[in-house]
Amino acid sequence: MGFIEFENVTKSYNSSEIVIDNLSLSIPEGEFVTILGPSGCGKTTLLKMVNKLIDYNSGSITVDYKDIQKWDTIRLRRSIGYVIQQIGLLPHLNVEDNINYVLNITKSDKKLRRGRAEELIELVGLSIDHLDRYPRELSGGQKQRVGVARALAADPKIILMDEPFGAVDEIARTALQDEILNIHNKLKKTILFVTHDIQEAIKLGSTIVLINKGKVEQVGTKEDLIFNPASDFVKEFFGIKGFQATLDKSILRDLYKRILTKEESIENLYHKLES
Ligand SMILES: Nc1ncnc2c1ncn2[C@@H]1O[C@H](COP(=O)(O)OP(=O)(O)OP(=O)(O)O)[C@@H](O)[C@H]1O
Ligand SMILES: [Mg+2]
Repeated sequence: MGFIEFENVTKSYNSSEIVIDNLSLSIPEGEFVTILGPSGCGKTTLLKMVNKLIDYNSGSITVDYKDIQKWDTIRLRRSIGYVIQQIGLLPHLNVEDNINYVLNITKSDKKLRRGRAEELIELVGLSIDHLDRYPRELSGGQKQRVGVARALAADPKIILMDEPFGAVDEIARTALQDEILNIHNKLKKTILFVTHDIQEAIKLGSTIVLINKGKVEQVGTKEDLIFNPASDFVKEFFGIKGFQATLDKSILRDLYKRILTKEESIENLYHKLES
């Protein structure tokens, strides 16, 4: 039994279409896992099954070495931070209360909550004076940072992130990616991070899971998926075919023409390269 483990999990919303297809996946504690795959392949469904927002038809799911059916749902959700794309900050609460929303309902000490909010806001790269603002007074990227802070508030062991940086511009996204890598290095949470974006998946995940039609196509490091693709789907998804196509001999010939001395023929060079 792994830290987070899917074992032969199958899910269909209605009987006609299988969305998660006998899927097995084992995630070690402390890992940063990116989940990649085309739209509709089942990424969000997979993520939401971990914190019981969606149930499954058969198989089993383990969280923190314990079958989720044996977890009390509320306790399970509190031990898992969740960040979604449409961040869902509560508009009538300021940043401090948004961050501490979970702590507020468990009625922690007020000073302790303020201290925690200050710690978290700095952790996600915002200054303390943001705590008194309301969500409408923040940029998209700042809202996402608050969303990450909120997900960390109850100090969960696991963080689920569903395309969390999809809606922010490229500069903010790069900064947020660096921040979440920092946070992972510092806090060693287990992170499941869903993305469409190959670059993002490669940058963040020490393990990448590529999903297609509710099945795992391949699990591995970026090197595994790029240089050792397990299927044509993996190869095509990473665009390796396209990449290789640009490296055909006519292009190489062009390149070599520029760097070769006139005496040395291109055929000779090829001969040398191939021998
Ligand atoms: N509540 C629902 N009822 C019925 N079908 C659903 C429901 N939610 C999702 N689906 C279907 O399940 C499949 C997987 O959806 P899911 O949201 O998990 O995909 P995804 O990989 O997250 O896609 P995207 O990248 O577009 O977010 C899709 O075919 C979708 O239409
Ligand atoms: Mg989705």
